[in-house]
Amino acid sequence: PTPTPPPSYAINFAPVAANEQNTVTVPNGYTVDVLLKAGDSIEPGTPYSGGFPTPADAEKWSGGNHDGMEYFELSGTDANAGGLLAINFEAPDLNILMSGDYDPAKATADQKALALSAVGVGVVEITKGSDGKWAVKAGSKFNKRYTGNSSYKASGPASGLLSATIKGTLNNCASGRTPWGTYLTCEETTNNYIDPTQPERNYGWVVEIDPYQELAPATKRTALGRFDHENVAFMADSNNRVAFYMGHDGTPGCIYKFVGDRSFSTTNRASNIDFLDHGTLYVARFNADGTGEWRALVHGQNGLTETATDPGNVSQSVTPPAPKTVAFRNQAEVLVDTIVAARVAGGTVMDRPEWITVAPDNSAIFVTLTNNSGRQTADKANPRTRNLHGHIIKFKEKDNSPLATTFTWEIFLLAGDPALAGFGDKLEGDIKGDTFSSPDGIRIDPKGRLWVQTDHSVPGTSGKPSTSIEQVFGHNAMFYIDQTSKQSKRFLVGPTGCEITGIAYTPDLKNFFINIQHPTDNWPVAGQQPRSSTIVVRRTDGQPVGN
Ligand code: FEO
Ligand code: CA
Ligand code: CA
Ligand code: CA
Repeated sequence: PTPTPPPSYAINFAPVAANEQNTVTVPNGYTVDVLLKAGDSIEPGTPYSGGFPTPADAEKWSGGNHDGMEYFELSGTDANAGGLLAINFEAPDLNILMSGDYDPAKATADQKALALSAVGVGVVEITKGSDGKWAVKAGSKFNKRYTGNSSYKASGPASGLLSATIKGTLNNCASGRTPWGTYLTCEETTNNYIDPTQPERNYGWVVEIDPYQELAPATKRTALGRFDHENVAFMADSNNRVAFYMGHDGTPGCIYKFVGDRSFSTTNRASNIDFLDHGTLYVARFNADGTGEWRALVHGQNGLTETATDPGNVSQSVTPPAPKTVAFRNQAEVLVDTIVAARVAGGTVMDRPEWITVAPDNSAIFVTLTNNSGRQTADKANPRTRNLHGHIIKFKEKDNSPLATTFTWEIFLLAGDPALAGFGDKLEGDIKGDTFSSPDGIRIDPKGRLWVQTDHSVPGTSGKPSTSIEQVFGHNAMFYIDQTSKQSKRFLVGPTGCEITGIAYTPDLKNFFINIQHPTDNWPVAGQQPRSSTIVVRRTDGQPVGN
């Protein structure tokens, strides 16, 4: 049975104009507060105050490059006035950690420890004051850092190929959650910051963290595959069967889902402790006729044998690359080398899948394909060669079921702007209303409203100055998009140099938590070093955002 669709929820804000101001711009009637800056205290210690930290100090700070995040309710607390925020730190804000450039090959032990302190995850208890402003509750037992220096366990079918204790979680990009209230942090790297003493396959996993610290310690869940993970979004049915959808932010990369073998428990939280270790990983194949298939990445199926044929990344050259013979001897090897296994099994290589989101009524899944300037061979699902601005695909599972093995799909929109048409290659896109480039964050909120965040990092297009993208689109921004009319309205514009990423909210939708990643110009504190930060966006009249 399909859950009942949510009521429609009007959007009623006056869009803001594209701009290049060094501030966060929101519609009239909205206010912005900075909640947690890189270098603020999470665990008790000495926060950033202008000088460089010791590694021990930095381990207790908010890390850098705030990215995906999730809000968790606390029993006994009004969830609209307090809860836990779990936040990913994708990369260090090096400017507050050490002087000069960081070169991993020449770094001292302290410099390495500092850089690794600033990636990972932070969990903070936050509360709303009587003035409506939110603050981290200092000293909360829930406040905790998980860093690139901490220890992690691995579980699932490939754990035997990993170290018993793994140092660090790295490049924690976007996020997800499970229906049993754990946090999923996604390692968007299989090869950055490599410690020569650690095998490379220790990274590139989804890591499950219990923000309440009741279940397992932070655990890398190998059944979900090893690739440059962007985020995770789940779809559950009325029998508590659940699928977890994931994108591989590769140029190009595939789209995956993991379907657990059993129903999760709503009454015995602890019984879900190994849920993510038992299930089937699938890769999506987008057929030209608008249908699609989920192909199981199971050893012995779909060509995953000891004499497998890898077709390579067929999108990045005009003539197909020569196929290669590769060997998968067991399921653990399929999961460690998921990127190749997906191509062997017939997965479609896409234009850098970033976030995926599932509609509250399970009727649609949206995925951002952020861009792929190197695409030379187009297909129906990736229709533009030299795709500088990206697109968004909408797909629908058969019977709206997480267990489906087939789906239908359509291009929801092509990003770009008519002002860029002169640069060739269909760069104009088909967005109605406020245009953007390089969609990255995407989430349908509990009222069914679609939000998109951008990461146009000025890809250096040939023949035009690198600033022209910002001249057309302004700074990176966040948009509301009507799913029927496809009308886009710009809701928020970030400060100089930043990417907008991360969306979480209180259950009443009156407080939106959003991340400002890697600002480059003295924001948020004038006259000080720029610092990635989590902000809170609220309406001054106390009504839900967008209502
Ligand atoms: Fe870390 Fe794909 O963005
Ligand atoms: Ca991203
Ligand atoms: Ca991106
Ligand atoms: Ca980023």
